[in-house]
Amino acid sequence: MLRIAPSILSADFTKLGQEVEDVLNGGADWLHVDVMDGLFVPNISIGLPVLESLRAATDAFLDVHLMIDRPQRYVERFCLAGADLVVFHLEAAQPQDIQSAINAVRDRGKMVGLSLKPRTPAELLIPYLPQLDLVLVMTVEPGFGGQRFMGEQMTKLSVLRDAVRERNPSCLLEVDGGIDARTAPYAVANGAQVLVAGSAVFNKPDRAAAIAAIRRACGE
Ligand code: DX5
Ligand code: ZN
Repeated sequence: MLRIAPSILSADFTKLGQEVEDVLNGGADWLHVDVMDGLFVPNISIGLPVLESLRAATDAFLDVHLMIDRPQRYVERFCLAGADLVVFHLEAAQPQDIQSAINAVRDRGKMVGLSLKPRTPAELLIPYLPQLDLVLVMTVEPGFGGQRFMGEQMTKLSVLRDAVRERNPSCLLEVDGGIDARTAPYAVANGAQVLVAGSAVFNKPDRAAAIAAIRRACGE
């Protein structure tokens, strides 16, 4: 089953509660929460207090994408603030710290994922694969919504799909960046099971129609 995870980065923050309700009523499966620190990426977004507010307002599955430097400092607090899944970047920490961050999320009983920027090769992630619930392949340079989908990332996605099948078949594959009804089918054809979509959902007046259009384009 394909999961659609609208990224609230493109929501109207003056009415976040309504925006979230709207996409959930419109058929969203997960909510994707983009956390940026102005160091790992050249933008600053939202953090722990907003996640706590979302958790208090909804039972929906909260997919937290940490685009922060040295995520091992914060993963436990994001678990406590209500994340169901904590995804952080392979490029953001040293290998031993990646491992301790994975352990910290697991110890809190939450799902854990690792993400790769467009220029990071799939091979660097393979050693961690047996421990992961999800792999997130970025199809834009992280930092901003509304960018163009990088089709060339499909090779990496299919390499990871084959590695997941072989080493950890229950691990989910997620894509993030430039996903809409036109690009989503390429991602799904190369193994994506979770589609993050920010502007393609929130920038449309009818969110239910936007989500349905992505599903339909993928043959669901
Ligand atoms: C980019 C974020 C994405 C972004 C997606 O750094 O991780 O989640 O909000 O936005 P769109 O779907 O507009 O590319
Ligand atoms: Zn994201």
